[in-house]
Amino acid sequence: MNKEIVVSGIRSTGDLHLGNYFGAMKNYVKMQHEYPCFFFVADYHSLTTHPDPAALKNNVYKVLAENIACGLDPEKVTLYVQSDIPEIPELYLMLNMMAYKGELEKTASFKEKARSQPDNVNAGLLTYPTLMSADILIHKGQYVPVGKDQEQHLEMARNFAQRFNHRYGETFPEPLAFNFGTQLVKIPSLDGSGKMSKSVNENATIYLSDSDDIILRKIKKAKSDQGPAEPNSEMPDYIQNLFLLMELVSAADTVEKFKQDYNECNIRYGDLKIQLADDMVRFVAPIREKTHALKNDTALLQKIMKDGKEKARASASSTLAEARKNMGIHYYC
Ligand code: TRP
Repeated sequence: MNKEIVVSGIRSTGDLHLGNYFGAMKNYVKMQHEYPCFFFVADYHSLTTHPDPAALKNNVYKVLAENIACGLDPEKVTLYVQSDIPEIPELYLMLNMMAYKGELEKTASFKEKARSQPDNVNAGLLTYPTLMSADILIHKGQYVPVGKDQEQHLEMARNFAQRFNHRYGETFPEPLAFNFGTQLVKIPSLDGSGKMSKSVNENATIYLSDSDDIILRKIKKAKSDQGPAEPNSEMPDYIQNLFLLMELVSAADTVEKFKQDYNECNIRYGDLKIQLADDMVRFVAPIREKTHALKNDTALLQKIMKDGKEKARASASSTLAEARKNMGIHYYC
């Protein structure tokens, strides 16, 4: 086991899709064997868009259930809910004193949100990066497995850590984005354009909660054509995408057979799609069933949340005590 501390937040908006699974979840599951890991459901972050209270609760349960079903082991990692850790908003308050309006306003994610929800440009949205920094620094996190879109937030976390250390003495390590290099795969959408994404192309995205029928229907509708006219033709990207998906869930010799059919101009995309759908169902169904069972086992989920909360608070309170002391907030000793 390495000693670097890993921290990552999972958005509580629910509905993981294949892109999330192969892009992030698989990394988490791998990291849990190699590093001390803190993974949490970022429910405070979701408040920036004022979610419906019942939906919020449902989503937190769902996200926990999905992540465990995908292989996160609550015995191995510290798995908790952000709002269960009061030390996080306390550190957030301190870090906000070190975060300048100008730099917060310049953040790409803030500008994006300010444009997309002009009626709700709240202070939580502006200070999203300080809350995210508090999430990481509260455990003295060093490695943060996140996608490219979070790089800027991480850079800000490093800046806040540096400023704090500079002003109050060495307290926080500077966190780095972490991935397993080449293993970060982009999962293409089924319509041949871009990657699977909840917001962009819902119908061309396979969710871990999709029923067998829906998976079959989505794959049948995937973009294809009449097949190549000449042997060994170059594959159009939407066909490459089907093969890429097949490589994730099908046996190697199955993929090989269809590639050969393609090269020999006798590929039948109808057959390929049925094979892909079969293998996809074999992959997704167990995760879906496990998520379903866990989600309905409220007692078990609550026990997992409580255990995670205890472990996370032990780490958080020790960091916070140090930060307070270094700032001069220690009036009783
Ligand atoms: N901002 C991250 C996202 O949108 C979620 C997140 C919140 C996070 N706090 C974090 C990720 C801390 C890593 C570390 O995906």
